[in-house]
Amino acid sequence: MIAEKAPAKLNLGLQILGKRSDGFHDLVSIFQTIDLFDRLIFDVAKRGETIFSCDDPKLPSGRDNLVCQAVDVFRQATGIDNGIQIHLEKRIPYGAGLGGGSSDAATVLLALNRIWEAKLSLDQLRDLGLVLGSDVPFFIQKGTALVHGRGEQLKYIPWHGQVVYVLVAPEFEVATGWAFANYKKALTGKGGYATFLNCVNPDEIYISELLQHLENDFLPLILQTHPEVAQILSEFKKHGATSASLSGSGSTLYGVFEDVKTANNAFSVFQDNGYRVFLCHPVLS
Ligand code: C5P
Repeated sequence: MIAEKAPAKLNLGLQILGKRSDGFHDLVSIFQTIDLFDRLIFDVAKRGETIFSCDDPKLPSGRDNLVCQAVDVFRQATGIDNGIQIHLEKRIPYGAGLGGGSSDAATVLLALNRIWEAKLSLDQLRDLGLVLGSDVPFFIQKGTALVHGRGEQLKYIPWHGQVVYVLVAPEFEVATGWAFANYKKALTGKGGYATFLNCVNPDEIYISELLQHLENDFLPLILQTHPEVAQILSEFKKHGATSASLSGSGSTLYGVFEDVKTANNAFSVFQDNGYRVFLCHPVLS
């Protein structure tokens, strides 16, 4: 039996640059893994068998789950037909812009590569990941990455400095496909965030500057469809966040804090008001 942790991610800004001929959108974003984890437990099964279970009955348990799809993709790519039993302890909210499903899928690819001694390179695992979803390649490696394309062009960057994140996950879920189909914005590719990232050396991004340029192109859509989100953003500011934004296409909002005490206080305020709230830190490679 082997247990692996699958981290969530935050998008430290996200700008959509244009729609592509394959139906996907090109984007620019900074992705960062954080210490909010699902846990996957792997065990042996009979040849060719995939046995999947999850402690959250609301998740699809059959072939619809990315975990099972990752096993299939790995078997097809390697020709290895061993059996596997996987139990998922779901802790990352889903439909929440935190990449939980993508991270689970990447964790399966990494684990099978090790358990079945397939010796695929990290690049090969990323290519397999992209078949499963745009965010999966990022999760093949932990850390902070400047991301372009559909989500597969990755440049891992250094991250110095201390931040604490307070995440508020509202009760509603957002489907990524719906968000890309419905966000409204002229596709100029020239938003402040994209311009900022174009002008800096990615290896020398100052966190304080990045935080001043956090923009997320999905935020206007989420504010329009769920106006209550505005209140959460203003609470972050009121309680000392340096910056506040949306992760992915939502629904999670987060505040960035530069000192632990202020972050703890904001966490308590949200918790006392009945929100689903998490206190998190970056997970660096
Ligand atoms: O890649 P993934 O399966 O996570 O994407 C879900 C949906 O979100 C896609 O089918 C597509 O409609 C949309 N999407 C997009 N551009 C991206 C990523 C996702 O249009 N870069």
